[in-house]
Amino acid sequence: MSTVDSACGRASVAWRADPYTDALRTGRGPLFLRRHDGWLLPLEVERWCDQADSADMAVLRRCEGPVLDIGCGPGRLVAALAAHGSRALGIDVHPAAVARAVHSGGSALCRSVFDGLPGEGRWGTALLLDGNIGIGGAPEALLRRVAEITAPRGLLLVEGACADVDERVEVRVDDTRGGLGATFPWARAGISAVERHGRAAGWTAVEEWSTEERCFVALRRAN
Ligand SMILES: C[S@@+](CC[C@H](N)C(=O)[O-])C[C@H]1O[C@@H](n2cnc3c(N)ncnc32)[C@H](O)[C@@H]1O
Repeated sequence: MSTVDSACGRASVAWRADPYTDALRTGRGPLFLRRHDGWLLPLEVERWCDQADSADMAVLRRCEGPVLDIGCGPGRLVAALAAHGSRALGIDVHPAAVARAVHSGGSALCRSVFDGLPGEGRWGTALLLDGNIGIGGAPEALLRRVAEITAPRGLLLVEGACADVDERVEVRVDDTRGGLGATFPWARAGISAVERHGRAAGWTAVEEWSTEERCFVALRRAN
């Protein structure tokens, strides 16, 4: 077992489904989250495995202090931050994602956001991009956890769905070619739902923007 694998020992197995591992290895989809009724949410594996694009850079320009990228995947954001000399750490429960993030020049740990993390209470900015507000399937609980991790007055940059949705779902990773992972809880939240869950978890929305058909909100921790 590699160092990354053993460090991942306590992390969730849901995202470790083979279809996701295969997509991370090849850098290609198709890959989806499949809801029980058959509805498919596309996962943009090619974009995640590429370099940070202009929409990503618009997020990274807003970062303050050390940055924690939650659910960093193959690590394009931590790699871009490292290349600009910023302190950044990615965390992800998937060993192949973490290995790829480290290979791309970023710092990354195989850890769940709900586990103990280095620098708790000191991160200047936390990132929840690419739909990662869905992690754990309960946005308010996730946002409370992120408030524990970030510094007082810390910043949280969230990518929400551009549609006005607020749903908790059970999903599986599906490559539509026979590869199907285990069921796990997920959530989708539009910007107003993110703001509402954020308020309940001690965050105040300070800015909204959209670019390249992606929608974002910046939240600040009260104290
Ligand atoms: C929708 S994908 C986003 C991928 C990513 N942002 C990227 O650039 O590739 C969700 C990611 O969150 C990770 N993840 C799921 N549950 C997690 C948890 N509890 N803590 C940290 N990461 C988690 C998954 O392994 C997956 O890589």
